[in-house]
Amino acid sequence: MWDKDRSWTLEAYRAHGGYEGLAKATTLTTDELVGAVKASGLRGRGGAGFPTGLKWSFLPAPDGGPRYLVVNADESEPGTCKDIPTLMANPHALIEGIAITSRAIGCDHAFVYLRGETAHVYRRLLAAVREAREAGLLDTGFGLDGAQSLSITAHAGAGAYICGEETALLDSLEGRRGHPRLKPPFPAVAGLYARPTVVNNVESICQVPGIFRHSPEWYASMGTERSSGHGLFSVSGHVRRPGQFEAPFGITMRELIDMAGGIREGHELKFWTPGGSSTPLFTADELDVPLDYESIVGAGSMLATRALQVFDDTVSVVRVVTRWVEFYQHESCGKCTPCREGTYWMRQILERLEAGRGLPGDVEKLESITDSIGGRSFCAFGDAAITPVRSGIARFRSEFEAGYTTAARELFPYAASSVVNDTVESAR
Ligand SMILES: Cc1cc2nc3c(=O)[nH]c(=O)nc-3n(C[C@H](O)[C@H](O)[C@H](O)COP(=O)(O)O)c2cc1C
Ligand code: SF4
Repeated sequence: MWDKDRSWTLEAYRAHGGYEGLAKATTLTTDELVGAVKASGLRGRGGAGFPTGLKWSFLPAPDGGPRYLVVNADESEPGTCKDIPTLMANPHALIEGIAITSRAIGCDHAFVYLRGETAHVYRRLLAAVREAREAGLLDTGFGLDGAQSLSITAHAGAGAYICGEETALLDSLEGRRGHPRLKPPFPAVAGLYARPTVVNNVESICQVPGIFRHSPEWYASMGTERSSGHGLFSVSGHVRRPGQFEAPFGITMRELIDMAGGIREGHELKFWTPGGSSTPLFTADELDVPLDYESIVGAGSMLATRALQVFDDTVSVVRVVTRWVEFYQHESCGKCTPCREGTYWMRQILERLEAGRGLPGDVEKLESITDSIGGRSFCAFGDAAITPVRSGIARFRSEFEAGYTTAARELFPYAASSVVNDTVESAR
């Protein structure tokens, strides 16, 4: 309903079936609510695809103390751009999802953790929470005894990719520096303020109302057997009409590129990412792989956040990988040595290869550094940071080796890949 007039208002949301799912959910017990989400097959949309209903069922039995829902709206992965548009266009989908999820897990205080830079999203969310509260939608039915009202706190962080990692998020929400925690204990057992906590992505929670408004079977009838339902596919880069495409899982990149108007005039696809900068690159060879969790893993990458970035034949892989690694080096939280030092070394080497000033053995050295980061870092960030480097070298090694003698901008003049202003040469 993003294209409806003032789609972000309660009035518009209700005119299109909004809060009907919550009305149905109020007639169900907590077990029935969790069971319905399990039956729908909904999988978490924050990257890992963990089954949402199963995650809710991991909370220990009530002990009289509080239990929390924390919605992860830190969206920061390069290419990932679905949660912020959702919150701008349809914030009530999240609030309705929060209300149903809170009922399911016995929570009367939910949190939404946003990036601080997204002040416009923060304001829109606050306004929508106010509308829902004034309409009496959050008044009763929450907490362990189902008799409490629901508080929703929107928290704006200072803007850090690592605060999207769920335990770093919880530390940041508690007022500490955003560093990942050692697991176990997992948030379900000891999360926010050491209490049982469900952490879910914005899109995961926004899917919940539809499951109750229609039915778990309706939801599971879309997508594939193990990747059910529909989701947002964010197509960016060298297509004629980049944007968000809502589709069932199992659609292919070829179909999505067609919907996005095709590759821009006079060019051909060179490579693309199925799930953002942390996922191995694909080329035209993988255009017909179904975009579901299993098929993408089978083809050697990850679906993650469905951040489908398209790069045409004008693009230097070395340049793109260098920009991504600069991002990871900047965002490394510094807690563990392999990631803190390794991302810095990768950045230095990549920047000289991009400038055509690579030293003999640099490509092999890059590979060796990725071996020292991957699987040896404190959190999944380390694996994310090495993925574009390994995958870029595996698929386009000669472009990296060209960096011993030739600057990437000479091989691929940067102005040619610009989609903003063809006449301005990049400053680099
Ligand atoms: C470095 C890093 C960054 C992450 N960033 C996000 C993010 O911005 N948003 C998000 O929902 N999950 C992010 N995640 C995944 C979360 O840790 C967590 O798995 C997710 O919020 C769970 O929600 P889901 O089960 O609904 O997918 C990130 C993980 C890592 C390792
Ligand atoms: S892997 Fe990187 S982001 Fe994660 S704890 Fe270590 S330094 Fe921090």
